[in-house]
Amino acid sequence: MKKIVFATNNSHKLEELRRLTKGKIEILSLSDINCHDNIPETADTLEGNALIKARWVKERYGYDCFADDTGLEVDALDGAPGVLSARYAGEGHDSQANMRLLLSNLGDNTNRKARFRTVIALIEGKEERLMDGVVEGEITQSPSGENGFGYDPIFKPMGFNVTFAEMGADEKNQISHRGRAVAKLLEYFSL
Ligand code: IMP
Repeated sequence: MKKIVFATNNSHKLEELRRLTKGKIEILSLSDINCHDNIPETADTLEGNALIKARWVKERYGYDCFADDTGLEVDALDGAPGVLSARYAGEGHDSQANMRLLLSNLGDNTNRKARFRTVIALIEGKEERLMDGVVEGEITQSPSGENGFGYDPIFKPMGFNVTFAEMGADEKNQISHRGRAVAKLLEYFSL
C-alpha cells in the first residue's frame, strides 16, 4: 500500500484522515518519522501555511508528504478567524476560548453564514500541488454536541439540523471541508 507522511501531530486530524483513507493509503504522522518540531505557521493564507508545513518535512526529513491548513471563515466578521482560527483567542489552541470569543464577536448578528475551508499541500519529489475542500454552513447561537474538535460544536453545515459535534465521525467526514479536500487527494492518486 502507498505510504505518505501527513505533516501533523493533531490526533483528531490523524484519526479523521486514517478513517478517510482506510485501505487506500497508509498515513504516517510526524511522530512516526521522529519529527517533533514545532513548525512555524507564519503565512497569512491557508495555502501559505500548508506549503510551509509540507516543505519543512520534505526539506528536513526527505519524505514525500502532505500538510493541511484549515480556517473557519465567518461572513459577518469579514472572514475571521480564517487563517488565525487555531489562535483566535490567543496562543494555546484553546477551543473553548476560541468559540466563546467568536460567539461574543458575532453577538446577535442575524447573518451567521460561515464556511470551513481546508487547503492541502502535497509534495511528491519536486512537485508541489494544492487542493482544497469547502463546507458551507452557519454559526449556531451556542455550542452543542461532544464529538469532533475545534469549532465543531458551533458549526451547523448547510442542509443539516445538527452541528458537526453532534454528528458521528463518518457522517462529518462525508461532507466536511477536510473530507472533500482528501477526496481530491485520493482522486489525484487514482485511489
Ligand atoms: P489548522 O491550522 O489546520 O490546525 O486548523 C486551525 C484551527 O481550525 C484548529 O485549531 C481548529 O480550531 C479549527 N479546525 C480545523 N479543522 C476543524 C474541524 O474539522 N472542525 C472544527 N474546527 C476545526
